[in-house]
Amino acid sequence: MTLAVRYKAARTLDTAVVDPPAPGRGEVELAPAYVGICGTDLHIFHGDMDARVATPAVLGHEMSGRIVRVGPGVEDWAPGDAVTVMPLRWDGSCPACRAGHQHVCQHLDFIGIDSPGAMQQRWTVPASTLIRLPGSLALDRAALVEPTAVAVHDVGRAGVREGEKVVVVGGGPVGMLIALVARAAGAQVRVVELSAHRRLLAEELGLTAWDPAVEDVPALVRQWTGDAGAQVAFEVSGAAGGMDTAVEVLGVRGRLCLVAIHPRPREVNLHRFFWRELTLVGARLYERGDFERAVALVAEGTIPAGRLISKVVPLTQAPAAFEALEGGGDVMKILVDCTDDTQGAVQ
Ligand SMILES: NC(=O)c1ccc[n+]([C@@H]2O[C@H](COP(=O)([O-])OP(=O)(O)OC[C@H]3O[C@@H](n4cnc5c(N)ncnc54)[C@H](O)[C@@H]3O)[C@@H](O)[C@H]2O)c1
Ligand SMILES: [Zn+2]
Repeated sequence: MTLAVRYKAARTLDTAVVDPPAPGRGEVELAPAYVGICGTDLHIFHGDMDARVATPAVLGHEMSGRIVRVGPGVEDWAPGDAVTVMPLRWDGSCPACRAGHQHVCQHLDFIGIDSPGAMQQRWTVPASTLIRLPGSLALDRAALVEPTAVAVHDVGRAGVREGEKVVVVGGGPVGMLIALVARAAGAQVRVVELSAHRRLLAEELGLTAWDPAVEDVPALVRQWTGDAGAQVAFEVSGAAGGMDTAVEVLGVRGRLCLVAIHPRPREVNLHRFFWRELTLVGARLYERGDFERAVALVAEGTIPAGRLISKVVPLTQAPAAFEALEGGGDVMKILVDCTDDTQGAVQ
């Protein structure tokens, strides 16, 4: 038995005792240590993904933890190993998988959305999803590996090259990580973000951040680029206004990498795509190589993961943390601590 955070219906979460399955063949049972709350978890919380999420659903797909026991047939892994999980299960046989794009399998099981996630004290997953963590990497920071893998994938999809001018629209955790990964790739980066708290954090990390509510961002980009426009824009806000900004700031042959989830169709200035010969690139999730690169970036400190963690709350307070994030308070990443024994581990 284990305590879990569950999504029940729009804006309704609870904590409940559940009974996770024992590890079967090829599976391992983990004790999650830290689980991040992601923008996608907030989309679920809002009810935007009700057509996909079977309730009650245990949430959580950004995690770090340790192996508790291994099922039959599992080699190379042992109790006590520190791990994170690449939370994808693909069928291996659909056209996308056969073309080598397993991470966007046409029947993808995204663990934590389509099947039970990590916000619980025990979690059973296939051993094939495990990614080893170096002993030097603290487990709280390691919970940032998954969103960093998203950022690595996105920067790769956009084909960011050294010296390019890049605008990241939306400076939430994912946007901030994209900005940091793009900078590490040698790009010059500007972040566009509504929240003063998040802009301040960006500035503290050495990034220039603009407020689209008071600044004329397209004019600032023209000034910055000598009227050329940016070479790459990332849309990471999920807002209609953010999409407009990303289209407007791009120069001729610019690439727009769409990362955010837009639950509804948007109006987009297609004339601009024609006029400037723009390219739109979708980016979803990550591949194993992105995850391994992300472990290295977080472990070596290129990604200052500790600076992005605003708060750590015990499992029982996760529902309140969702409310706080929803209210857009002065927070970046909130982690749920699944190990806190004051909440009565039930095992
Ligand atoms: N492609 C993927 O595989 C993938 C993976 C993870 C997350 N996501 C999605 O990426 C998005 C970002 O994730 P997050 O965790 O950083 O979410 P978040 O909600 O914390 O961040 C979004 C940020 O955009 C800002 N914003 C809103 N409107 C804006 C505007 N008009 N201009 C500039 N900034 C604006 C908000 O203030 C907020 O800080 C979400 O939609 C999430 O679902 C996609
Ligand atoms: Zn498939």
